[in-house]
Amino acid sequence: MDSAVTVERARALFGALPRPLGFVPTMGALHGGHLELVRRARARCATVGASIFVNPLQFGPNEDLESYPRDPEHDREKLAAAGVDVLFAPEAREMYPPGFAAAVDLGALGERFEGAVRPGHFRGVATVVAKLLNVVRPDVLFLGQKDAQQAVLVGKMIRDLDFAVEVAIVPTVRESDGLAMSSRNSYLDPTQRAQAPSLHKALLRVRDALEAGRGKNDAIAEGTAELSAAAKLDYLDLVDAREFAPLERLRLPAYIIGAARFGSTRLIDNLWLTS
Ligand code: PAF
Repeated sequence: MDSAVTVERARALFGALPRPLGFVPTMGALHGGHLELVRRARARCATVGASIFVNPLQFGPNEDLESYPRDPEHDREKLAAAGVDVLFAPEAREMYPPGFAAAVDLGALGERFEGAVRPGHFRGVATVVAKLLNVVRPDVLFLGQKDAQQAVLVGKMIRDLDFAVEVAIVPTVRESDGLAMSSRNSYLDPTQRAQAPSLHKALLRVRDALEAGRGKNDAIAEGTAELSAAAKLDYLDLVDAREFAPLERLRLPAYIIGAARFGSTRLIDNLWLTS
């Protein structure tokens, strides 16, 4: 696996790869979900690029930028073993040199749910993904469904700004008890780890209730009752799949989305509902 830490070198390496080129952007601390993205990219594309960059722009002032799990050596080994051809792993000063001032804002979609709890988060995500797409120039961008609002937002950015790339959303990879794989799961202590799958159970309960014909409010109440009593629910809702706008009744395609805190660890999850 070749790797680059500068934009200039990355452009040269990615530019020389046979097409189609698949791209998997990450913040490192890689788990099975990331490796599934690489597998999907390998299956679909002639070559695969990846990035590791803990993007300061998408962290709020009181968030976990400093403590975000970092494991660059193992990450590199995992990506090489998974068949990534080129890795781009820049430092923050390479991506945001002095004077950097651009921002990509996607409006209301970036201000709901995760955007409301984490002001500025999606501006940071959209800005870095725009930059990464301009450096890598992939044919297909692979994103995980676990961060559904992010995937929908990046899809909107690609349409609104005419990026010449297709987005592939890859289904969430789960632990055997249903917990969605996430780098932040490493923050959970054993008690919280045992409680955390209740977020997935809450989503399943909402889905079952909606499919049984119950109204949204009743379905959300049933789902909320599934969540561990020790957890603090941020939101549990039914939204449309294009703008993440809350729906009053089931209209496909849609997502059931949830976010909850287990101790100080905030986890998100969702289910995609389609016909
Ligand atoms: O999902 C992530 O890991 C990040 O938000 C992304 C897409 C790599 C942008 O920093």
